[in-house]
Amino acid sequence: MTSSGDQGRSLDSGEGRQRQTSIRPKPEWQTNETKGMSHKPAIMLEGVSRQFGKQEVLHDINLKVHSTEIFGLLGPSGAGKTTLVKMVAGLDEPTRGKVYVSGVRMPALRMLGEIGYMAQLDALYLELTAQENLDFFASVFGLRGHQKSRRIHQVMELVGLTVDRGKLVSAYSGGMKRRLSLAIALLHEPGILILDEPTVGIDPLLRKSIWEELQALSRQGTTLLMTTHVMDEAAKCHRLGMIRGGELIATGTPMELISAAGVSTLDEAFLHYGEVKKGPIQGGRGSNPGTQDERMRHSHVHRRHPRKGRSIDSEVPVQDPTKGGNGE
Ligand SMILES: Nc1ncnc2c1ncn2[C@@H]1O[C@H](COP(=O)(O)OP(=O)(O)OP(=O)(O)O)[C@@H](O)[C@H]1O
Ligand SMILES: [Mg+2]
Repeated sequence: MTSSGDQGRSLDSGEGRQRQTSIRPKPEWQTNETKGMSHKPAIMLEGVSRQFGKQEVLHDINLKVHSTEIFGLLGPSGAGKTTLVKMVAGLDEPTRGKVYVSGVRMPALRMLGEIGYMAQLDALYLELTAQENLDFFASVFGLRGHQKSRRIHQVMELVGLTVDRGKLVSAYSGGMKRRLSLAIALLHEPGILILDEPTVGIDPLLRKSIWEELQALSRQGTTLLMTTHVMDEAAKCHRLGMIRGGELIATGTPMELISAAGVSTLDEAFLHYGEVKKGPIQGGRGSNPGTQDERMRHSHVHRRHPRKGRSIDSEVPVQDPTKGGNGE
């Protein structure tokens, strides 16, 4: 796991700044989907692999992200996180397998209005001001008149850039560019929000208020798929997919992943599932009774079976962190 400089594992601190949370109606497809169909996945990957030349960088990924969930992809540099989210955003295609967003096979042009995507590398017009960038992207997304100016004002307040909106983006710092990219991804209030390392270079206070907004968006019906290296951020996701060397090595809530591995931190859990992938489990550690195999069976954690190379899904639930401290 790389440490991302000042982000590292620094915890959010201080009071959240005043912010304007947008209340928006759920898109029609989501309203229908959540009516008695809350388990229908908003995002689904079936046997997805991606090859560049001779190198296969994603191997047989099977994943479901449910509607209104905040799903985090956690993994070290080069694991394949960006490659995966780009395919969900419809910007790339799998070499094998299928990607669906809201039941629609991707890539699909008509889904682009439903998806907000914040790339890992900022895609901004450097020679324009922030305001001009926002005007441009808002128009691309079909926002007009009062709705457009209201929305631009809201997202700029959220990312704390209102006073800098007239500056050229070329004069922005790295963190300011990240914040502007996030503002642009949020502009058209998409039903699916894909964020590739959204808070890199953003200070803890602002990160806290951005997280509050992401959680509010999830409550209002948005599905979020994000990538991160940062453990304290991963712990706030409703569910996580741990990815290493192009393989999804485990999925579950942060609590489930920790508990089933018999460890006390996500860091340790990540190392544990990495080891599990390499070979049979050798036995438990810590004071929990039973072997690690037994703990894995008694959780909702999905992991790759070390020998058969397939996911296993077990029955007995452990504590649901989204109802406790983790999901906030
Ligand atoms: N267009 C490309 N052509 C060739 N190889 C690529 C391409 N894009 C990604 N890769 C390779 O795929 C692997 C996964 O890259 P990816 O960017 O998905 O990793 P990541 O998990 O997002 O890493 P980071 O945390 O550093 O952003 C890397 O080995 C990378 O070199
Ligand atoms: Mg990446």
